[in-house]
Amino acid sequence: MRVLTGIQPSGDLHIGNYFGSIKQMVDAQKDSDTFAFIANYHAMTSGGKDLSKLTMQCATDFLALGIDPEKSTFWVQSDVKEVLELYWILSSFTPMGLLERAHSFKDKTAKGIAANHSLFSYPVLMAADILLFGSEVIPVGKDQIQHVEIARDIATKFNNEYGDILVMPEFRIQEEVQTVPGIDGQKMSKSYGNTVNIFGEEKKQLKTIKKIVTENVAMEDPKEFINCNVYNMAKLFLEGDNLRALEERYTKGGEGHGHFKIYLGEVMWEYFREFREKREYFQNNQDEVREILKSGALRAKEVAQPLMEKIRTATGIAY
Ligand code: ADP
Ligand code: TRP
Repeated sequence: MRVLTGIQPSGDLHIGNYFGSIKQMVDAQKDSDTFAFIANYHAMTSGGKDLSKLTMQCATDFLALGIDPEKSTFWVQSDVKEVLELYWILSSFTPMGLLERAHSFKDKTAKGIAANHSLFSYPVLMAADILLFGSEVIPVGKDQIQHVEIARDIATKFNNEYGDILVMPEFRIQEEVQTVPGIDGQKMSKSYGNTVNIFGEEKKQLKTIKKIVTENVAMEDPKEFINCNVYNMAKLFLEGDNLRALEERYTKGGEGHGHFKIYLGEVMWEYFREFREKREYFQNNQDEVREILKSGALRAKEVAQPLMEKIRTATGIAY
């Protein structure tokens, strides 16, 4: 089964990104044909500042966190230019109304972001990303479901005209993944400024953890763990006896939330240790990262090119 995902290179990754998305992708490598690319063309729609640097940072971080180039086809979107050709061809199968109804465009313009054409036509490029590789399953967060539906609508229109050339993709929502809370208890998100980042200095990380909002209970009293933001974060990193032990510390009393925060900091630092080491390796070997991306692009092209040939023939672009 071919599973495809696109990642926008948007800076420092937080633990919400890891548990909500990256870990699923890494786990999927075990039993699926995973295709993962860095969506650098997409990133241009939101300004595209420091794009080249962020693309390399994103590649480095994903390799460190477990994207395995032996198991996954991993590349940068702009290295497979066929996607732009397909984007144009698909544009002719995309009614204006379909794009006018897209939530992400409506939301962004409602927030006052000046609409440009790339923001408007973003779902067509995303459809090209998906359809160019015969992708069957697209794991997405809720905000991206509509984009996969648009890709299906476009594929249907195309196939009605030219026969069954494009594979119909399906979205897969990650139900079992709960929303990771931020330090204020709201959904962790860069845009809320409430993140705990995966990579960074230990001291800085602890400083952030110390800002986690907790209820005010005297040191000696028992504490609730169920709705505690510190516990909810720690739960991501602990299981079995270790989690039970933390719960007991809460109910026993005698320790403050500050103690639990220090414990969370230690557990988290340990959890990401191996990833940090791998990241340092790739940071010191950026040429190797580039090589991995280039050979990923070659593999991606092997899938894209024969399909593009079929599309060119069917549409009469080939003459
Ligand atoms: P942000 O909200 O910080 O800008 P993105 O929108 O770039 O994060 O999210 C990238 C991926 O990480 C998406 O697949 C999204 O579903 C996942 N993700 C982001 N924040 C969380 C969270 N708090 N809990 C679970 N998953 C999350
Ligand atoms: N739009 C996706 C996001 O913002 C990124 C993306 C681009 C993508 N192309 C894709 C995701 C194709 C899945 C499939 O997160």
